[in-house]
Amino acid sequence: DEILHAPTYNWDHLGLVASYDCASLRRGFQVYRQVCATCHSIQRIHYRELVGVTHTTEELVAMASEVDVVDGPNDEGEMFERPAKLSDPLPSPYANEEQGRLANGGALPPDLSLMVKARHSGQDYLFSLLTGYCEAPAGKEMMPGLYYNPYFPGGAIAMPPPLNDDGVEYEDGTPATISQQAKDVVQFLNWCAEPEADSRKRDALTYMTVIGMTALATGYYKRFRWS
Ligand code: HEM
Repeated sequence: DEILHAPTYNWDHLGLVASYDCASLRRGFQVYRQVCATCHSIQRIHYRELVGVTHTTEELVAMASEVDVVDGPNDEGEMFERPAKLSDPLPSPYANEEQGRLANGGALPPDLSLMVKARHSGQDYLFSLLTGYCEAPAGKEMMPGLYYNPYFPGGAIAMPPPLNDDGVEYEDGTPATISQQAKDVVQFLNWCAEPEADSRKRDALTYMTVIGMTALATGYYKRFRWS
């Protein structure tokens, strides 16, 4: 089967001194919660990590408190349910792999925490996958429960096209086209895979500046001594 390779897109956050667009991350988190979270977990991200990135502390405390998580054992040795806190990971849609497969005709929706890293040219591939659904070419038989997508290896994926135009309503008024939602959610998933990227770049800039100034001072001192 012919497989299309994703083109290279000009992501805003790539580049030595570029940072994530937080408005886009906030929209992307909304797409994840309202669309992808029905089937996919993001187990590696905890609510607290999103503070100051997509939402305020108060907003995230409120968001978490709407979810029940199992905790324990308590002093009596029993497990119990309680509202989620900032320290809890984002909730998973299924209790275990069996349940996940049962709900998806045998296929398992993978955890998306590191998906951007797990696939070749991750963010470009994800964007192409999400926007690439189309009719199967004439003569290609699709098995029930599989959908044609030329970017997915083999061309037949068990994930139904998740995005629809205006499938979500953005609070900031951004038109929620399929490609806008795909861009936002892929940027969000990119952040999930490396939440520390922005601070790492900032630190690198600091180190390079300090090293640069040290080199200048050392150079001047050397010439001064040897003159
Ligand atoms: C697979 C992303 C929504 C069910 C995948 C994969 C990604 C992904 C990146 C892996 C593709 C690969 O292996 O290369 C997303 C995103 C979503 C979303 C970003 C929201 C915009 C959904 C929804 C469902 C679903 C709502 C369930 C109705 C699945 C299943 C697979 C899958 C069953 C496994 C496909 C296979 O192995 O054939 N998804 N997904 N996804 N997704 Fe989603």
